[in-house]
Amino acid sequence: MIMIGRSYAASGVQSETTRAWWKEAVVYEIYPRSFKDSNGDGIGDLRGIIDKLPYIRDLGADTIWLAPIFQSPNRDNGYDISDYKAIMPEFGTMRDFEMLMAKASSLGIRVILDLVVNHTSDQHPWFQKSRASHDGPYRDYYIWRDSVHGHPPNNWPSAWGGSAWTFEPTTNSSYLHLFSPYQPDLNWDNPFVRDEVFSIMKFWLDKGVSGFRMDAITMISKIPSLRDMSLEELKAPEYVYAAGPHLHAYLREMNDRVLSHYDVMTVGEAYGMHAQDIPLFTESARRELDMVFAFDIVHVDRQGWRKIAWPLSKLKEIYAAAGRPRSPDSWNTVFLDNHDQPRAVSRFGNDAAPFREVSAKAIATLLLTQCGTPFIYQGEELGMTNLPFNGLDDFEDVQVPIEWDAKVKRQGVNPEAFFESLKGLGRDNARSPMQWDMTRNAGFTTANKPWYRVNPNYIEINAQACLQNSKSVYHYFRDLIALRRKYPVLIYGSYQDLDPDHSAVFFYSRESGNSKLLILINMSDRGFTYASPHLAKVSPLISNVEHRSVTKGMTWLAPWEARVYVA
Ligand code: NOJ
Repeated sequence: MIMIGRSYAASGVQSETTRAWWKEAVVYEIYPRSFKDSNGDGIGDLRGIIDKLPYIRDLGADTIWLAPIFQSPNRDNGYDISDYKAIMPEFGTMRDFEMLMAKASSLGIRVILDLVVNHTSDQHPWFQKSRASHDGPYRDYYIWRDSVHGHPPNNWPSAWGGSAWTFEPTTNSSYLHLFSPYQPDLNWDNPFVRDEVFSIMKFWLDKGVSGFRMDAITMISKIPSLRDMSLEELKAPEYVYAAGPHLHAYLREMNDRVLSHYDVMTVGEAYGMHAQDIPLFTESARRELDMVFAFDIVHVDRQGWRKIAWPLSKLKEIYAAAGRPRSPDSWNTVFLDNHDQPRAVSRFGNDAAPFREVSAKAIATLLLTQCGTPFIYQGEELGMTNLPFNGLDDFEDVQVPIEWDAKVKRQGVNPEAFFESLKGLGRDNARSPMQWDMTRNAGFTTANKPWYRVNPNYIEINAQACLQNSKSVYHYFRDLIALRRKYPVLIYGSYQDLDPDHSAVFFYSRESGNSKLLILINMSDRGFTYASPHLAKVSPLISNVEHRSVTKGMTWLAPWEARVYVA
C-alpha cells in the first residue's frame, strides 16, 4: 500500500526530505486521443484507457496523468477547452470517467488531470460573451487592448510565432493569446476568473482525482504594462511571459483555497523559468506546487526552431543541478518524453536497427534512477520511435502551420532546414497511435482510418510483441520500476556524478545511509574498456546486456550498455 505523509531522514543532500506518495510514484502519461479506441471511431477514448489499466499496473506505474479529456473543439487536441466540467464526447461520458476512476482505484492507480487554465478555447462561452461587447461581466475574463494605429497592441509573439494578438472587429480591439488564436489567455488578475478556476479544480478533486499537471502555469500572471519586448527578449519571449508579478501569489492562493484541503500532487509546466527560480515553486514552505517540469532537458538539442547536436556534458550538467537542489525540501521530476516532445529513443538514444532496443533501455535506466519523480510517456516503455515525415501535410499539430508561417514565410528561414528540424523535433512524433499489436492500425482502432497515422514500424514494435519477449524494452522498464520500489535510495538518496568529464559514459551514484547504488551507462554507439576505482567492489543488480564481470575496477562496456550495481 502507498504510505502517505510519513517522514524519515535519509542521509546525504536530501536529508530533510519528507516522504510523500507522489515522490515515490511512477507516473505514466496518457494522450487519450492516441491511446486506445474502444468504439471504432478512430479516436482513443476513456473506455479504451479502462481496458488498458491492467497493462499499466503490470508495468508498475501507480499514477496516470491524463492529457486533457474535457470538451474542446480540438484545435490543439484538448489544450483548448470549451467546457471544463464536461468530458469530450469523442472520449466518452462522465459515467465512463467515473468507471475509469473506480477501476483505477481498484488497481491501486491514482489519476491526475491536466489543468489548462492559462487560456481557454475561443469557443468557451466565457470568451463568446467576452468578445461580443465591451460591457458585461465576461469582458474582463480575457485580456483586451485597442490596436495602436492599426498595429497589434504590443510586439509580443505567440509561443509558436506570429503576433500574440488577434483583432476582433465586433469590438474593434484585440485579445491576447500566448499560444494559437484559438486559445485566448484568461485574465488571472480578475478575481472572478480565479474563483472559476478554483471551482473547476474542486469539481474534479471531489470526483477523486489525485492532483493536476498544470499547463503553461508560469504564464498566468502578465506583466501589467504589457510593454514591448526588447530585441534580446524576443529571442526567448517565454521569459517575459513568465515574469508576471503575481504568479507566486496566485499559486499560493490556489494552494490555500484548494490544494491544501486535499491529499494531492501538483506538477507545473515551468515554461520560461530559469533553473535557479524553480525552488520558488517547489519549496514546500512556500505552499505553491509540489514539482515542476523544467525545460532544460527540452532545450538540450534545440536553438529556437533549429535542432542541434547535444553533448552528453549538457545532460550531465542538468542532472547534476537537479541532484543538488538549492533547497533540501524541493522535489524534481524526471522525464525524457511527453506529448510535446519527439520520442526519447530517437532523440537521446539511437533508433536505428542494432541500437534501438538497447539504447531505449539505456535511457530508461537514466529515467528511473535520477533524482525526482519519473514520468513515462505512453509507448516509451516499448521503445516507440519518431514517425517518418515526407512533407508538411504529414503533420497534424496546430503549431506547425503557425510556426512555418512565422519562420519560413515571414522571417525567410530556409524551408528545407526548417523541415529537417521539424522532422526531428515535431510534437506529432509522440502523438501517433499507441502500438498495441501487429494487427491493422496496430490494434489501436478497428476503424478504417485512425485520427492520425500509425507508425509503419508497428509490425515490429508493439506491446504484444514486447509482452511476449522477456528481454524486451517493456520488461526492462518493468524491472527498473520494481528495482526503484525495492531500493528507496533511488528515490530519496543523494546524487553524485562519478565521472563528469567522460564524453560517452554517464556514471553516478545514489546514496543514503549505508545504502549505495552505482549507475553506469554507455551513452554511445561504441564499445570500449572502462575503468574506475568506484567499480572495485560492486555487485550487479540489473543490466540491459548479458552480465560481464568487472576485474580490478575495469570492464568492457558494449554500445549503450547500462548497469546498476550495489556498492
Ligand atoms: C503545453 C501543452 O503541453 C501543449 O501540448 C499545448 O499545446 C500548450 N501547452 C498550450 O496549451
